[in-house]
Amino acid sequence: MSKQRVVLVTGGMGGLGESISKKMEQAGYRLAVTYSPGNTKHAEWVAENKREGFDVLAVACDVSDYDSCAKAVAEVQAKLGPVDVLVNNAGITRDMTFKKMDKVNWSAVMNTNLDSMFNMSKQVVDGMVERGWGRVINVSSVNGSKGAFGQTNYSAAKAGVHGFTKALALEVAKKGVTVNTISPGYIGTKMVTAIPKEVLDTKILPQIPVGRLGKPEEVAGLILYLASDEAAFVTGANIAINGGQHMQ
Ligand code: CAA
Repeated sequence: MSKQRVVLVTGGMGGLGESISKKMEQAGYRLAVTYSPGNTKHAEWVAENKREGFDVLAVACDVSDYDSCAKAVAEVQAKLGPVDVLVNNAGITRDMTFKKMDKVNWSAVMNTNLDSMFNMSKQVVDGMVERGWGRVINVSSVNGSKGAFGQTNYSAAKAGVHGFTKALALEVAKKGVTVNTISPGYIGTKMVTAIPKEVLDTKILPQIPVGRLGKPEEVAGLILYLASDEAAFVTGANIAINGGQHMQ
């Protein structure tokens, strides 16, 4: 890197987010993470990681709320400088069959997983375009491509993520800014280990040809590549990382 670039990872203390954050910081990025305002363990997390030499700025942000995103990004930019790489990683599940799903659980997932793409990208993309360099990396899911039992909300939001990626990628392609989606499969994080064991063992693992859950570091490695100068010709892509579970 010619200069220390600034990366902002939403949900950067969570399962996948923590691995992404650590990989980026170790690679020399100046790192900011957002955590959800309800996270009471954030100060502890920061203190523990700082003791291990991990340099991070943590800001509270409700990614489903536009004003909260504006405030969080303003704080990051004031303290670290303009955001060069945005990783839209924060996401939630509210799994239930469509029959049982109510509007609250539909909207919670749409707002956090899809509206967040607009709310966060809007804060940084104009600056990237003006500076002639930027990376937006949106974390979708295998279930946005193939659908999943119990996830009408999540699959719809994650499919929407890639539509957003493609349209924005077109608009900024000539300005040195790339926009990509990654679609992880089942990765060994809390989100996946929360699935009932019987469902995981009988319905999900048998569908993964590699025969195991993915590792968060494997996803982080892909993000590190997409953030690099070498990835300048990759834009509007949806890169699957799912152990062969769904091949397009
Ligand atoms: N495929 C087919 N059938 C399934 C199924 C599946 N994956 N999961 C459940 N079923 C069936 C059960 O076998 C049962 O069938 P019978 O009635 O014939 O016995 C029926 O569905 C149960 O229906 P209920 O509405 O009563 O189910 P429930 O309330 O107990 O739970 C569920 C349903 C919430 C969908 C639960 O099965 C579940 O959590 N499944 C996992 C969903 C999933 O894969 N989530 C991914 C989370 S990880 C993630 O999202 C990260 C990522 O990006 C990959």
